[in-house]
Amino acid sequence: MSIEQLAETAQAMVAAGKGIIAIDESTATIAKRFAGVGIENTEENRRAYRELLLGTPNLNQYISGAILFDETLRQSTKDGVPFAKLMADNGMIPGIKVDKGPQALAGFPGEVVTEGLDGLRARLEEYYKLGARFAKWRAVINIGDDIPSGTCIEANSHALARYAALCQEQGLVPMVEPEVIMDGNHDIETCFEVTEVVLRSLFGSLYENSVMLEGTILKASMVLPGTTCAEQASVDEVAAATLQVLKSTVPATLPGIVFLSGGQSDEAATAHLNMMNQMGPNPWPLSFSYGRAMQSAALKLWSQDIVNNVAKAQQTVFARARDNGLAALGQWQS
Ligand code: 13P
Repeated sequence: MSIEQLAETAQAMVAAGKGIIAIDESTATIAKRFAGVGIENTEENRRAYRELLLGTPNLNQYISGAILFDETLRQSTKDGVPFAKLMADNGMIPGIKVDKGPQALAGFPGEVVTEGLDGLRARLEEYYKLGARFAKWRAVINIGDDIPSGTCIEANSHALARYAALCQEQGLVPMVEPEVIMDGNHDIETCFEVTEVVLRSLFGSLYENSVMLEGTILKASMVLPGTTCAEQASVDEVAAATLQVLKSTVPATLPGIVFLSGGQSDEAATAHLNMMNQMGPNPWPLSFSYGRAMQSAALKLWSQDIVNNVAKAQQTVFARARDNGLAALGQWQS
């Protein structure tokens, strides 16, 4: 796969005014989301829900691609159209979550390392054949007393870089996601410092592993105070701190940065992205790759009547896509 093709895919993922919808919840995670609204976690319900999301009329106006879970990439609409084909026919790029989730890091209580490198080359080869053109790997960095440790940060950066190099070898754009978790009572300065160390380590590892940045997308967490920190931050403060840490750690050759929502409210996720773009111009397009902040309202509506509320729920998905698409241009108005 040429770097030009990878770069073209990466640029299309962050095309002006467009972002990614993350619908790559593992079976265990979607079980939690469904349980929260009283939906039974059956394969058919998961399929129907993903069809609702991907089949949202005119979604491609604001959505460039979607991250799917393994099961979803193998599923089809009720009329038998594979989801990857449905997306491609509508000009949206299929992506796939390829990590196997975080596991306890031995010897480092409270810290985790993401697994999934074994056999990854063969899985990527198959995912490409199934239509995927980008792949996501999420590392989880927790903040707490004396954590994160350097060992945890390095282990996760190394895994992200190994996966990213394999992706590029197999023709997929890596979407590298080092998520600094919001939970905790730490202040915004602590989140800033941790994010800075994490991103420096990540870009160092990507360089050491010959990953081509022109064909890579960063999925970043925003710089926020912990959810139980007494001192919360304004939209301006979050946007300014996040831009500062990104500008000091992320090379300008990267085609784009997308954010995760990480537990922020729908409104906050949109407002923060919008403000960062209003504070521009920035070295890279800044857009979204939200999961919960794209889906929560729609899932709630759908759960009230999974047969008759499909169109209503899709209108909500479209409205969230539009708001976030406008925020990616700094043109959203609350
Ligand atoms: P949230 O936006 O719900 O954090 O999910 C994004 C994602 O893909 C996390 O890996």
